[in-house]
Amino acid sequence: MRRLEGKFALVTGASRGLGAAIARQFSAEGAHVGVVYRSSAKGAQELAAELERAGAKVDTFPADVAEASAVRGLFDEVDRRWRRLDILVNNAGVTGSSPQGIDPGAWDDVLNPNARGAYLCTQAAIPLFQRNPKGKVLFVSSDVVITGSARSPPYAASKAALLALTKSYALQLAPHVQVNAVAPGFMDTESIMARPDMTPQKIASIKESTPLRDFTHPQEVAKLAAFLCSAEADFITGEAVLINGGRVLW
Ligand SMILES: NC(=O)c1ccc[n+]([C@@H]2O[C@H](COP(=O)([O-])OP(=O)(O)OC[C@H]3O[C@@H](n4cnc5c(N)ncnc54)[C@H](OP(=O)(O)O)[C@@H]3O)[C@@H](O)[C@H]2O)c1
Repeated sequence: MRRLEGKFALVTGASRGLGAAIARQFSAEGAHVGVVYRSSAKGAQELAAELERAGAKVDTFPADVAEASAVRGLFDEVDRRWRRLDILVNNAGVTGSSPQGIDPGAWDDVLNPNARGAYLCTQAAIPLFQRNPKGKVLFVSSDVVITGSARSPPYAASKAALLALTKSYALQLAPHVQVNAVAPGFMDTESIMARPDMTPQKIASIKESTPLRDFTHPQEVAKLAAFLCSAEADFITGEAVLINGGRVLW
């Protein structure tokens, strides 16, 4: 079933990882996808070529979502090329680490792309959404909003901010735009699996401690994202859906 046929969908941070999985899924479901990336031009172009080979329509857009001027430029370009926007997925994000002492840079380095970036993109998308009868915004939060993150407190804070944005924009943009979030657990994306602490023992222990005995796969999150951004979810708004194999629960 091609639930996103004819839709124009912008996915931030789509050069790899979850964003690329969402771009693939949306494309397979009929969307014309915009792959937004910051620095991985090669990844974005390879993904675009892959999707085009499969017969899909795709555009790539370089933009640092943490920068207001870059976000303005991004949405001006979307307007120029597409003249409309049906779906915005605020996926771009970084993890950061736990700094010693007071280091405001460590906070800004995570909060700016993760929370400010999602806020700026949503604000910039509103005039485009106003041209359509329907629109969808999806934020990518995390189950660390429940567990906290000893590794990166700013990361957990940024992902909690996205839940507040989800509820706030669900109210502000109703009735014609639905705004939801996905909150994945630990995913086996390349960037996670390349971490030095991802030893075979740690991988086994993550699977063992998950009731469904596996990592959260980006493809599973992408399927959930497609559902939430489709007409099937037209009466769902302000909701955050955990997808983590039951590892932690609301
Ligand atoms: N991996 C997990 O276990 C997990 C769990 C829960 C939630 N999440 C969330 O899921 C999302 C994707 O995670 P991932 O593991 O797929 O990450 P990833 O592989 O590190 O990819 C991150 C993507 O975000 C882009 N990006 C980062 N900063 C950006 C900025 N300032 N402007 C524009 N793009 C930017 C990167 O683009 P460039 O490469 O071009 O810089 C890249 O495409 C993130 O929001 C993350 O917090 C991840």
